[in-house]
Amino acid sequence: MCRIIVVGSQKGGVGKSTTVRNLSYSLSELGHRVLAVDFDPQFNLTTCFGISDITMIPNDIASLMTAMLNDEELPPSEQYIQHIGKVDLIPASIQLSVVDANLRIEMGSEHLLANLLEPLREQYDYIIIDTCPSLGSLTISALTAADEVIIPVNPQLLAVMGLQELTSTILKIKRRLNPKIKFGGILLTMCDKRTNLYKEISTQVDSAYRSGMRIYDSQIPMTVKVGEANYNGMAVAEYDKNNAAGIAYMNFAKEVERYA
Ligand SMILES: Nc1ncnc2c1ncn2[C@@H]1O[C@H](COP(=O)(O)OP(=O)(O)O)[C@@H](O)[C@H]1O
Ligand SMILES: [Mg+2]
Repeated sequence: MCRIIVVGSQKGGVGKSTTVRNLSYSLSELGHRVLAVDFDPQFNLTTCFGISDITMIPNDIASLMTAMLNDEELPPSEQYIQHIGKVDLIPASIQLSVVDANLRIEMGSEHLLANLLEPLREQYDYIIIDTCPSLGSLTISALTAADEVIIPVNPQLLAVMGLQELTSTILKIKRRLNPKIKFGGILLTMCDKRTNLYKEISTQVDSAYRSGMRIYDSQIPMTVKVGEANYNGMAVAEYDKNNAAGIAYMNFAKEVERYA
């Protein structure tokens, strides 16, 4: 059965796009059929998949959402799904910011992304959605489509603050729009175990959420190879197969697989 996973946080720079890039790669290496969806108008995920010139691509998530908003028929999926290695991708473009504005004024539009993805469930084991750093209409649409949410926390950014706001948004979505949504868990990213900040934040996260929410055992170390891999349009494990972050993302993917 296909699982739709949203990687979300209203904070920027916590490792959302990097997590979607590497989780989708690792799950595909484990033999799963994976679709990654870029749902951020900054299209960092699209760039992390090595697509530098989005104008060459006829259909991105923004044009599909626009068709949904206009009650138009979608093109066949071969025309909008990109195959990048073993992972499939629906890219995004800056046009998604126009969609964001339209979603805000269009009645009942929260369900449009869910409706768009629903027929694709048959073709995939995992659909993983990257979101933008806000709790606005795009993120609400993503959460409405989700079976579960993974929340990356970057210890350097005091990212624990703000978790409360995010969890209460998710609970509101659960009550009003999407009763099936579950918390997947918290993933600590960009960890530098030597720093006091890391120790401080990981204990804070632990004590605050251990009872209510899973905190994944895998933690992603901070390494310069991540930025280099992103820049080269590759997953870390593809870029350098011995890199600690690539190995950590593979272990994380196994945890995600296990906690179905
Ligand atoms: N484990 C890591 N080690 C080092 N740099 C990282 C790591 N994860 C992400 N980064 C870098 O941090 C920045 C923010 O990551 P990104 O995934 O774009 O976050 P978000 O999508 O939440 O804004 C990027 O420049 C990325 O290359
Ligand atoms: Mg991002």
